[in-house]
Amino acid sequence: MDEILQMRNIHKAFVGVKVLKGVDLTIGRGEVHALLGENGAGKSTLMNILTGVYSMDEGQVIFDGEDISNCSIRESEDKGIAFVHQELSLFNDLKVYENIFFNKELTTKGGSLKKNEMIAKCREVFEKLGVDIDPSVTVEHLTASEKQTLEIAKAIFFEAKLLILDEPTTALSNAEIDHLFQIIENLKAEGKSFIFISHKMPEIFRIADRYTVLRNGEFIKAGNIAETNAQEVTSTMVGATFSNAEIYRTRELGEPILEMRALDGKDFHDVSLSVRRGEVLALTGLQGAGCSELMQCVFGELPSFSGTIAVEGEELTKNTIHLAMKRKIAYLPTNRRERSAMPDLSILENMYISEHTLSGKKPIINRASEIAKYDAQKENLSIKAEHYSDLILSLSGGNQQKVFFARWLNTDAEILLLDNPTQGIDVGAKAEIYKLILKLAESGKTIVINSQEIPEIQRVADRCVVFYSGRIVKTLPHDQITEHTVMMYATNAAEDSEE
Ligand SMILES: Nc1ncnc2c1ncn2[C@@H]1O[C@H](COP(=O)(O)OP(=O)(O)OP(=O)(O)O)[C@@H](O)[C@H]1O
Ligand SMILES: [Mg+2]
Repeated sequence: MDEILQMRNIHKAFVGVKVLKGVDLTIGRGEVHALLGENGAGKSTLMNILTGVYSMDEGQVIFDGEDISNCSIRESEDKGIAFVHQELSLFNDLKVYENIFFNKELTTKGGSLKKNEMIAKCREVFEKLGVDIDPSVTVEHLTASEKQTLEIAKAIFFEAKLLILDEPTTALSNAEIDHLFQIIENLKAEGKSFIFISHKMPEIFRIADRYTVLRNGEFIKAGNIAETNAQEVTSTMVGATFSNAEIYRTRELGEPILEMRALDGKDFHDVSLSVRRGEVLALTGLQGAGCSELMQCVFGELPSFSGTIAVEGEELTKNTIHLAMKRKIAYLPTNRRERSAMPDLSILENMYISEHTLSGKKPIINRASEIAKYDAQKENLSIKAEHYSDLILSLSGGNQQKVFFARWLNTDAEILLLDNPTQGIDVGAKAEIYKLILKLAESGKTIVINSQEIPEIQRVADRCVVFYSGRIVKTLPHDQITEHTVMMYATNAAEDSEE
């Protein structure tokens, strides 16, 4: 094999806690290499060492024939390694071309910026990648998918040889994933190499050539994707404990608790839905189908233009988040980094923040009782964390998501709106989250989940409501939820839509 990268015997500890214990990673030129492992296994840390973000305690890194052990961020970039972060690292208030040329601006001898030249160069690369983005637009106006593509464009621009994609698809729709994979295939054909980190098995088997599995900071196995299967890889990742057993059970549902009548908003139209107490209702659809916007509207984050929302038979008079929370509605947002994480706060503070927004009457925070609640949730959700006073961002991505889940469980909400809830969560922990969702439903909580992962919907939902272009086209009972049926309605290919 023609190797572009060899990482040998990498060791790393954070304040005495060993998170990498002699890891090996070998990447071939022109291959897509899946780096696999549970939440907290050490994937992002290993990549941070490769790209100079962290230094290692022991080990060796050979890239393109050169020893680059413990190089700086700048050195690793200059050698041709590009890190497309799990948590995107663009500047929202700068323009597209300013982001691409950040810290590498083209200037005249006199030091003034060559704006037009930078814009023209951007256009060139975008065209090559088949990307339709205006270089002079401000980044905050881009969709998650466009931001993603922009990060890749940035890497190509500076002639990266190895691109690291850390969970690149968590905020993308299925169509956008197809586009991303097309870009990866094209670049691979040009000899670029990729390290691809993902918790979604179908994706890994679609795009990767080889794989490496880490568990608890140790190298477990490497091999060809063609010589294994999802079941085998999963067992390698989680050890012997994993169980994919059927967990769904039909239950007695209660009276309607959440009702929408002819609800209209910017991205959804004429939505009438009644959700019963104890029900798990799934919303699904392609990008732009309006499911996430509908949830945000119920939570008071987006306005409705007409129609009504009622909780326990009582209409919500105003659309505000505070009112929604008071009526015991919780919302776990899609896109963790931008909409859930409070980076300057600790794990504990990130967990109790919603609860205290609600209890304005009791502004004093009882630390001991919060810590006790945290310990209970840590156990309940198997959160992997050192100390509750550490910053939230010191947790691995999947473990952060669990803390945000706990944030809402702590509010005693009756209606949980979960938008893409298992983003960044590994297969083993996903199974735990599904169990938890069903346990909550059994105890009388009502759960609305927005997901594009049909296997996930099949495992937990009593009903699945399929959206197309902002409207409900079909409601499927549990036993009719199949990949094929859902896709047929989601793409509006079915004849008997409700529309
Ligand atoms: N800056 C840091 N300070 C302290 N501990 C850290 C830091 N960064 C990572 N860790 C710890 O190192 C371990 C590995 O984390 P890492 O982010 O590499 O996991 P991961 O495999 O990327 O997981 P995920 O799939 O959830 O993203 C975790 O236990 C995490 O809490
Ligand atoms: Mg990670």
